[in-house]
Formats: sequence, structure tokens, C-alpha cells
Amino acid sequence: MTATMQTKVPSQIKDPSLSPQGRKQIEWAERDMPVLKQIRERFAKEKPLQGIRLVACCHVTKETANLAIALKAGGADAILIASNPLSTQDDVAASLVEDYGISVYAWKGEDIKTYTNHVNIALDHHPQIIIDDGADVVATLTKERPQQISEILGSTEETTTGIVRMKAMQRDGKLAWPAIAVNDAQTKHFFDNRYGTGQSTIDGIIRATNILLAGRTVVVVGYGWCGRGVAMRARGLGANVIVTEVNPVRAIEANLDGYRVMPLIDAAPLGDVFVTLTGNRHVIDTPHFEKMKDGAIVCNSGHFDLELNLGGLAQLTTSKEVVRPFAEQYTLKSGRRVIVLGEGRLINLAAAEGHPASVMDMSFANQALAAEYLVKNKGKLSNAVHLLPPELDQEIATLKLKSMGIGIDTLTPEMVTYMNSWEIGT
Ligand code: ADE
Repeated sequence: MTATMQTKVPSQIKDPSLSPQGRKQIEWAERDMPVLKQIRERFAKEKPLQGIRLVACCHVTKETANLAIALKAGGADAILIASNPLSTQDDVAASLVEDYGISVYAWKGEDIKTYTNHVNIALDHHPQIIIDDGADVVATLTKERPQQISEILGSTEETTTGIVRMKAMQRDGKLAWPAIAVNDAQTKHFFDNRYGTGQSTIDGIIRATNILLAGRTVVVVGYGWCGRGVAMRARGLGANVIVTEVNPVRAIEANLDGYRVMPLIDAAPLGDVFVTLTGNRHVIDTPHFEKMKDGAIVCNSGHFDLELNLGGLAQLTTSKEVVRPFAEQYTLKSGRRVIVLGEGRLINLAAAEGHPASVMDMSFANQALAAEYLVKNKGKLSNAVHLLPPELDQEIATLKLKSMGIGIDTLTPEMVTYMNSWEIGT
């Protein structure tokens, strides 16, 4: 860590000399982010965020770097911190600081104390807009710095878990500014959560273990958009997939999608690989670990690591050993071994590189447009969780489709009339 080293702008990163490789990574991602690029080019001309102090608390990846660069092009005085201790790409952080003059406070493997310290450094920036991923910055500001609330124009939230927290704040009367639920835009969760998490979670599991998934039993815990994606891709590689759910509608959906559905306690002795994607706490708990077979692999791809009760697992354990990078083997009193990947942190970002750029293109186009929307609508939005206007979703989808070289049909005047009429029947 180089808090004391000279960097181009204030920062705390692993090593500024990694910047040449980081720049290549950022440019590599940019090739697959044409929508965000167009927004960046417009922002550079129109400066919709001129002088706005902005904190982005996101996974510090090559894709997030492109968002930060677009925000800066729009005139924002932006700084970036990590939304997870294990997800930072250190070369990317170095390039943002050295090549793009954007302050970053993050390095891969930072401990919780440092993570919290970085949240506080971000708040010392006195943000007017917060782009959050998991709601840690907004929750900290609300709890610990009420005097800064009046400075906030609004916040945006990237992830399902964060939106659940924002809605809880709203219910408790604690949400003191308009918040945009970016995750709930169709061009975000239809693609990022399903195809992004689907592919990158499998990528993380494979990079951490190099196991063959064909023929293995993969237990997908939670059948939201992310779980659907992981189940689909695991099946695509030949795994036998079991889905566990608490929501009866989703359970039917999983069943009709062709998966076995059962309570997790029954799946525990059957699974070779377990992946949690629920947004909830201690979903895989001590009784589940006790029933797992020798060599079971367990990981999480939900936002926070607390989906796995690793404290409970530690109590069943006689020894622990790191057997590969991002793979820690717990030997239980029973003699059986359970392998936990990525310390229970998001496996797609801990052991792999997160979602591919082409889906983050739409997610971060939403983030950039949400920041602009908050500035344009200053003082007009209520202190509640809002959706982005559907026209922006349509605009992002239209730009993306165009960039993919795909044309679609348009409604004829006759069709428009028909769709607007109740009188015409058979
Ligand atoms: N969340 C999941 N994948 C990501 C990525 N590549 N960049 C930023 N946030 C992410």
C-alpha cells in the first residue's frame, strides 16, 4: 500500500507503477462499452455534472474505471472507493490515479478497518452525489454524519442488496434524499444480474478450482436474476443443478425451468458446489455445513460475505489451510473437508474479473444517466427510492442494440391505433 508514496492525485492504492497495465485493461473494457462511451462524449461537451462532488463506491474494475472517466468528463469532481475488500483491480486503480487524475482509495485485500477508513475519506470529500454499491456509504453518512445530509443531491444504488437497504431506510423514515434504484432498470438487472453474474460466477469458481463442472451437482441458493443466470450457465457446462428458494413463485419457476428444487438441508449432502445469491444472512449455516460431503466447495456470489456462516463453520473446524489462491480448506471434526472460495466474498470479483464489460456498459450507462438526472431534477424529487424514467431505459437499450448491429421492427400506424383502442375486438 502506498499511502505515503507520491501519486498524481491524492490516493491510497497498492502500487502506482502498475498503471501501464491498468491503462491497457481500461482501454480493453472500453471497446465493449460503446453506450457509456457515447455518454462520455456527450458529457465532455455538455458538462452536466460540472463541479459536482461525487463519490463512487463500486468494485474498482476496468469497467468502473470507464464510468469514473465518463463522470469526470461530465465535470464531476469524483473520487472512487471500493465497495468490497477483495474486488479491486490494483493495476486499474493505479491507472485511474496516474493516467486519468482520479483519486482512488482502494486496494485488493484491504482489511475491514481500511475499508471503513476509505468510506470516511470519501465522506470527507463532502459528496453531493453518491453512487453506491451495497449502500455502505449512504448508511454510514446517515448514521454518523447527519450534518452532511443537507449537502446531498441524491444517490444511486447499483445492487439488489443495496436497494433492499435503501427501502428499509425509506420505511424507517431515514432516507433523507432521492435515491435512484439503478439495479431496477431493465437494462441493468435483465443483463448484468443474469448474464453478467451467470458467466462471471462460473468463471470465478473455475479460476479458483479448475474443476470440471460437467457431471457435478451444483446447488444454486436463491433464484433471483443472479441465481437464474448461474443455474443456466452451470447447466450449460453439464452440471446437475439443484435450486433452493424461499419464494414459492420462484421455486415453481426454477422447477419449470428444469431444475430440481428442494430445501437446502436436503441439498446439503448432495452438492459438490454450492453458490449463494440471496442477499440474506447465514443462508448456508452450521447444520448445512455439517451435512456436506467431503470436498464440498462453497462460495457466495451475493453482495456481502455474510451469506455463509463462516463463524459457524469455524466452530466445526479443527484446522484450516489455503490450498490454492482463493480456496481455503476447512477440515472438520468429522474429518470431512469443506473448501470455501474467496473468503465468502463475491467469487466473481474475488477470483475472476467481475461481469464482462459489455453488460457493465448498460449498468454504468444507467449510473451515468442517473447522476445527470439527479442534477437536472435537483429539488424536484421526493426523498424516496425512485426508478429511472423508462425512456432512459429505452434509450440505453436502443443505443446498445445499435452498437450490436441488430435492427428491430417499429409499430405501423395501424398497430399503434389498435394498441390504443379498446373498441376493436375479434
Ligand atoms: N459488479 C459485477 N461486476 C462488476 C464489474 N466488472 N465492475 C464493477 N462492478 C461489478
